[in-house]
Amino acid sequence: MSLDTPDVVVRSAEANAQGYHEFSLGEFTFRRDEFFAYITWPTGSHTMSADAFLRALQRDVAWDFFYGIVNFDGVFGTMNHYGTVDMFAGRYNDAYRKAELDYYENIETPKIRETFKSILDDWTNEGFDPFASPHETGSAFGIRHGTNTDAITRRRVAAARMVNVPGDEALRSDENGHPVNRMFADVGQDEPEIEAEPGFEGEVAAFSLFAYLSRSQVTWNPSVVSVCKDSLFCPTTEEYILPIIHGNDRVEWFVQLSDEIHWDVEDRDAGGIRARVVMRPGDVCAMPADIRHQGYAPKRSMLLVWENGSPALPDLIASGQTPTYPAEF
Ligand SMILES: [Fe+2]
Repeated sequence: MSLDTPDVVVRSAEANAQGYHEFSLGEFTFRRDEFFAYITWPTGSHTMSADAFLRALQRDVAWDFFYGIVNFDGVFGTMNHYGTVDMFAGRYNDAYRKAELDYYENIETPKIRETFKSILDDWTNEGFDPFASPHETGSAFGIRHGTNTDAITRRRVAAARMVNVPGDEALRSDENGHPVNRMFADVGQDEPEIEAEPGFEGEVAAFSLFAYLSRSQVTWNPSVVSVCKDSLFCPTTEEYILPIIHGNDRVEWFVQLSDEIHWDVEDRDAGGIRARVVMRPGDVCAMPADIRHQGYAPKRSMLLVWENGSPALPDLIASGQTPTYPAEF
């Protein structure tokens, strides 16, 4: 089974010699062969490994372009304007800017969303899951063989209030297809006991976040577990490399819950290195609003990402009314 291709998607009538369709969106074109994804725009071109491209594309689609900038690498990516999306090449890369090879187009979100979903579906082979750790999936490479539509259309787990509160998502369990991950076999599965005052039995809920995260099938894909106004707790399990370089448009707090992640932190707009952060269990850091970052997790680890989801923040920060850092000490 593969996805239908909506009318807004511009796709070649025929597949190429390797079995993949070619796509265009505005003045950008996208082509893949056995090993690589090729992107062109009026002033340049770019090549990425097919597996790295698909892992990044999967996050951009699943997160609906996320907060701020999703850099697929140092050249190509998207910037979310929440209704429209800039698709760019070389825009956040000093060398491309100086050589005037950078380029971007602003695109209506539904059009770029559908095009990216179609590319992802057409270019993902049977057996390759771009969400999975490389240890837990097959290869992205080769001539086109089959599809993996079920894997790439997984629904992101998101709570409306808090996980396990009446009316919200069921907890992850063996029964609903979420066995404990091989790396978290030592994580206790006991759930907290609740002793509610009489009359409040239906209103008090609790769950073990460690047990919950131990059952995540995917890596680098935050799942919202609690919502309180604009405060979103988005924990995630991480293994290998964050497939994108995330450019913040607001401050993000990180709480390292288990194991270890190494972060490369760069200037968001120019790409120069600003910091290297090694986070171990219990470490807390705030990533400023003017950086971009990529994480490396040597072993599957648990990370709590705390986001302020206020739609006012990007403008407040861009106009200088709110600082790019979270607190004065
Ligand atoms: Fe970020």
